[in-house]
Amino acid sequence: MTQIFAHRGYSALFAENTMSAFLAAEKANADGLELDVQLTKDGEVVVIHDEKVDRTTSGTGFVKDLPFKEIRKFNANKKGEKKEPIPSLIEVLEWMQSNQLVCNIELKNNLFPYEGLEEKVIQLVRKYNLNNRIIISSFNHYSIVLSYRTAPEIETAPLFNERIYMPWVYAQSIRAKGIHPKLVSVSDEIIKGSMENGIAVRPYTVNKESDINRLLRINCTAIITDDPVKALKIKQQF
Ligand code: G3P
Ligand code: CA
Repeated sequence: MTQIFAHRGYSALFAENTMSAFLAAEKANADGLELDVQLTKDGEVVVIHDEKVDRTTSGTGFVKDLPFKEIRKFNANKKGEKKEPIPSLIEVLEWMQSNQLVCNIELKNNLFPYEGLEEKVIQLVRKYNLNNRIIISSFNHYSIVLSYRTAPEIETAPLFNERIYMPWVYAQSIRAKGIHPKLVSVSDEIIKGSMENGIAVRPYTVNKESDINRLLRINCTAIITDDPVKALKIKQQF
């Protein structure tokens, strides 16, 4: 049965990539989470989508130029009533000890390479013994290969925006167990072909009811959605 992954947490209702959004996704009974990680100036892995903190927090500047102590002072919950900091990956992995969620960690290293990001994320995943509940994805496919070489026990999945021919062949060639394509770049045939060849498919970002129904109908591995409550309701009626 198609799994429901909450994109940046339950981001349709809560501030993206915050503990509030992750807790809400858990409460909604989502199967998994998707979140984005980058590195601070002093090498802490933090959960934030943009290279700059400006859009989602009360602060300004590039994540890579800010030390962890400084970045934690910013409010990442501008939408909500209570202030909350940008989470560290450690905070999320610690919290995962108390639930059964799967977590898709997207390495946001397509603009800045963030030297050592793969290694740091893998060390933390191993430390918290979460090897079986983590999927590492990235638009940076070199990073996907590096992650696999460093930790073959952790599932990897390349992200892509364009339609590619027989993506399962590509995924197999880089030893990825899945692909995370943009929704418009996959046809039913591509999804079925990938799954028949042992490659999981988790398209993003699937918010429209008709798209959710379409992917449930072909029993796609998972969908990545901003609104896990809506997707789960549709899934229940299916
Ligand atoms: O992981 C799927 C999706 O999150 C990739 O795009 O920009 O939302 O990180 P973006
Ligand atoms: Ca993402």
